[in-house]
Amino acid sequence: MNNFQFYAPTDFVFGRDTQDRVADLVTRYGGHKVLLVYGGESAEKSGLIKRVTGKLAEKNIEWSVLKGIRPNPTDDRVYEGIAIVKRDDIDFILAVGGGSVIDTAKAIALGALYGGDFWDFYCGKAKPEAALPVGVVLTIPAAGSEGSPNSVITKIDGLHKLSYRSLLTRPKFAIMNPELTMTLPWFQTACGVVDMLCHIFERYFSNTPAQLVNAYSEAIMRDVMDQALTLRVRPDDYEARADVMWAGTLAHNGLCGVGKEEDWATHRMEHEVSAIYNVAHGAGLACIAPAWMTFVAKRNPDMVWKFAINVMSVNPAGKDTNRIIAEGIKALKDFYHDLGLTTSLTELIGKEPDIDALVKSLEGNMGKTLGAYVPLSMEDCREIYRLAL
Ligand code: NZQ
Ligand code: ZN
Repeated sequence: MNNFQFYAPTDFVFGRDTQDRVADLVTRYGGHKVLLVYGGESAEKSGLIKRVTGKLAEKNIEWSVLKGIRPNPTDDRVYEGIAIVKRDDIDFILAVGGGSVIDTAKAIALGALYGGDFWDFYCGKAKPEAALPVGVVLTIPAAGSEGSPNSVITKIDGLHKLSYRSLLTRPKFAIMNPELTMTLPWFQTACGVVDMLCHIFERYFSNTPAQLVNAYSEAIMRDVMDQALTLRVRPDDYEARADVMWAGTLAHNGLCGVGKEEDWATHRMEHEVSAIYNVAHGAGLACIAPAWMTFVAKRNPDMVWKFAINVMSVNPAGKDTNRIIAEGIKALKDFYHDLGLTTSLTELIGKEPDIDALVKSLEGNMGKTLGAYVPLSMEDCREIYRLAL
C-alpha cells in the first residue's frame, strides 16, 4: 500500500424523507441565498422541487433557479449560472439531481469566485483558491459526484469533455433518499450501476498491493451486481435501492483507491464517446470496459484473473489463466446484457463510431499515453475502440 491522505468531509444524510432536512443543512453550511440547480423534468414531475423549495421558504432562505441541465453538461449553462450568482448575490449552490446537475453546480461554485474564465481550471491553466459551498439532493446513484471532488464539463466549442478535481468542490452535504431513485427509467438505473462499477474498476485494476482495499472493493462490486439484478425484477425494492445508492458513493469518494495507483483509461476513452456522440456515460462504459479488460489482460493478467474469480465467480478448477479471464469478461458482458445494455459501440451509437476522431480528440485532451495498470499508447487505445465496436 502506498502512503495516502484521505479526507472526505461530506455530511451524508441518508434514508427516507431526508430531503426535508435540506433547509437546516443549507443553513448549517452557511447558505443564505441559494442557487437551485436541477435537470430536465424529473425533479419537478416527482414533486421534489416543490418539497425542497417549500422547506427553503419555511426557513426564509431565498433562492434563484438554473434548470434544464442536460446529461453530459456543457459550459454554456455554467456561464449562465455564474452570471446568476453574481447578479443575485448567491452564497450557496444547491444541486438537486445527478452527476450532470452536481457537476454544473461545482463548476459554477468554482467560477463564481474567480476573476477569469472557469474553463481555465478544466484545461489546466489555473488553480482555484476558493469556491462557493455546494450541497446536494441526489436523485440518481451513478457518477458519485455527491461525494467526490470531481466535476466533468463539456466545452461546446470543440466538444472537449474534461474532468477537474478540486477538494474545494467536495459537497458540504449530500442528502440521499433511496426512494427518490424509484422514478428512474430502468435504462438510467442500469447506466448508473455500470458507472459505479467502473469507478471501482479504475482503482481495483492496479499494480499496487492492497489486500484490504481489494477485499472491500470486491464486496461492493458483488453486492452492486446482486442488487442490480434484484432491481431488474423489483424496481421498488427499498433495500436494493439503498445498497445501490450507497455503493455509488463508496465507489467514487476515494475509499476504494486509498494507497493505490489508479488507472482511469476506460473513463477517459469513454468521455470522448459521450462528448462526440452524446450517449449516456454508463452506456458508453459498458462497451469500453470489457474491451479494455480484454486488451490489458494480454499484457498484465493478474488483476483480471483475480476479478474473474473473486467478483464474477468463475470457478477456476481445471482451467488455465486465459480461460478464466475469458470467462470472467464474458460474465461481465452477460451481466451488462442482463441489465438490457449493449456492449457494442456500433449498436449504442447506431453506426460505426469514427475511431480516428475519437483517438485524435483523446490525444488532444490527454496526451500520448493513458492509464497505469497497463500504460496505453494511442495505438493501443485505437485497438480498444476497435474491440468495443
Ligand atoms: O434531467 P432529468 O429530467 O432530471 O433526467 C435525468 C437525466 O436525463 C434522469 N434522472 C435523474 N434522476 C432521476 C431521473 N429521472 C427520473 N427520476 C429520477 N430520480 O437521469 C438522466 C441522467 O442524469 P445525469 O445527471 O446525467 O446522470 P449521472 O448521474 O449518470 O451523471 C452523468 C454525468 O456525470 C459525469 C458523466 O460523464 C456525465 O456527464 N461523471 C461525473 C463524475 C464526477 N463528478 O465525479 C464521475 C463520473 O465518472 C462521470 O464522468
Ligand atoms: Zn464514471
